[in-house]
Amino acid sequence: MSPPTATEDVIVSLKATNLDAITDNGGQILVDLKKGKPKGGRSPLAHLLPPTTLARFEKYGIDVSQGYPEVPPQEKIPTFLDEAFAVRNEGYPYVDRGKNADPEKKALFGAATEVIHLTKHIGTEIVGLQLQALTNQQRDELALLIAERVVVFFRDQDLSPQKQLELGEYYGQVEKHPQAQHLPGHDGITIIWPELFLQLGISSTFKQSKTTARWHTDLTHEHQPAGITHLHNDAIPKVGGDTVWASGYAAFDKLSPALQEFLEGKTAIFKSAHTYFDRNDPLNGKKQVEREHPIIRTHPTTGWKSLFVNRTYTDRIVGLEPGESEVILEYLFGVFEKNLDIQVRFNWKPTKADLGTSALWDNRISQHNAIWDYENSEPRHGTRVTSLGELPFYDSESKSQRQSLGLSLV
Ligand SMILES: [Fe+2]
Repeated sequence: MSPPTATEDVIVSLKATNLDAITDNGGQILVDLKKGKPKGGRSPLAHLLPPTTLARFEKYGIDVSQGYPEVPPQEKIPTFLDEAFAVRNEGYPYVDRGKNADPEKKALFGAATEVIHLTKHIGTEIVGLQLQALTNQQRDELALLIAERVVVFFRDQDLSPQKQLELGEYYGQVEKHPQAQHLPGHDGITIIWPELFLQLGISSTFKQSKTTARWHTDLTHEHQPAGITHLHNDAIPKVGGDTVWASGYAAFDKLSPALQEFLEGKTAIFKSAHTYFDRNDPLNGKKQVEREHPIIRTHPTTGWKSLFVNRTYTDRIVGLEPGESEVILEYLFGVFEKNLDIQVRFNWKPTKADLGTSALWDNRISQHNAIWDYENSEPRHGTRVTSLGELPFYDSESKSQRQSLGLSLV
């Protein structure tokens, strides 16, 4: 435990990290620097895990006897904004697995019993394949399919967390969150478990969901934001709990050429979900990490243009007056949220009760929204692995999806 630090020392320099508190000279705590940080370590909640989740963990040797889930030790969780900003700020070389895949995807489709396009523009379900048995050739073809169809689903999966992680590592650097709950011993596998939020005192109601039931794109504040996210749900409500995805390619194609042209080359500021203290302004509360990315980005695999904004994390368009930015962003959010023809709504139910369902989606070209209509009346639990993508870029030579496919532009 670090000793509390008197205010004037703090203001002179906050170079030291992981202080517990800033106090005045009388020892009165002015800022509790641990405020909002999880306790760290393992939670005593394993007994609340759904039976299907426990069975999966037991089968694949995930030991929850020492507690579940796990968060990094509190002293390893960033206190200050600059520490959080430094996480993965240096970049990493991205390998595009879909780039050289067979455009016909013969290895993947040939091994499936059925390939179902759920809507015209977004969402494909593959039947009869086990994700943990895919060859690298099939994995490459799946990466291409995700890049084209935005989100791909697999029901009835017998998937170990370890194999889920391995697939994620194949697709890119796996995100390890500085403070999110994860599987014990596997910080690259985060947890989606509404019961956990309830236990942490974050209780959603029918009128107000406080968790994932809002339109967003995962991890857009990262230096190299999320590419493919793979969520495997191993406990699924019998009724409800659907998730909706909307396509960024189609959202771009919904805009007028004049608005497309206005947005091309512009950037926006994206904020993090978690907050940290500003070393230069510690007395004024916690702030979000901010990063700047193109609003129209080109997908490295398909070369298609996509609208890259989301209501939860896109804060403002760079170069515009605040009022202008607000009006334009509100319009752009609405393009995703209001056009049902560019969305797919998916119900996760497996056909065999003891198996799980996987969704793999591309965050570069989509937003999603998890519907909370089951209101914790039934358990839901999933493990999530996120593979980070390339540094976002806009190529002025790139085409839109509809241009490339020869579809009507009006
Ligand atoms: Fe999400």
